[in-house]
Amino acid sequence: MTESQTQSQWERVGGEPAVKAVLDRFYEGVLDEPQLSGFFENVAVDDIKPHLAEVLKVVLGGPGARTDIDLASYLTEAHSDLGVSESDFELTGKVLLDTLEEFDVPADIVETIEDVLATVQPFVVAA
Ligand code: HEM
Repeated sequence: MTESQTQSQWERVGGEPAVKAVLDRFYEGVLDEPQLSGFFENVAVDDIKPHLAEVLKVVLGGPGARTDIDLASYLTEAHSDLGVSESDFELTGKVLLDTLEEFDVPADIVETIEDVLATVQPFVVAA
């Protein structure tokens, strides 16, 4: 087996430090978008990042990832009062994918994250 087959996607991205760097850049991009920045006006973004890192660890198969997170109810609860529209969600997804490109994240990992975006959209976007 080649190394890329034995390592998890989490490890291939560069593990915890790389995910942290990506999330820092991602939130910079989000706060730069006038359509999105208002959502985070009264929120400490640095408090959200570890939660999002935890979600990514589950998704990318990181070591010791939690197995007890029910993403549907967790994400629905976290966003239920925010009124996130489909267009807000799409723009956020674009900022994330642009960030992954900037960090030269391998294509198969980008695909995993695109799949996750499609899966979680109904939990984040207000009904
Ligand atoms: C892939 C899509 C998304 C994922 C996986 C995600 C994930 C998360 C997570 C894990 C939290 C932390 C929940 C907690 O503290 O326990 C959170 C909070 C938050 N998210 Fe998202 N999110 C997504 C999309 C969005 C979008 C599109 C917006 C708005 C444009 C948004 C706005 C927020 C805000 C404002 C909070 C803080 C809520 C609060 O503390 O009151 N999220 N998100």
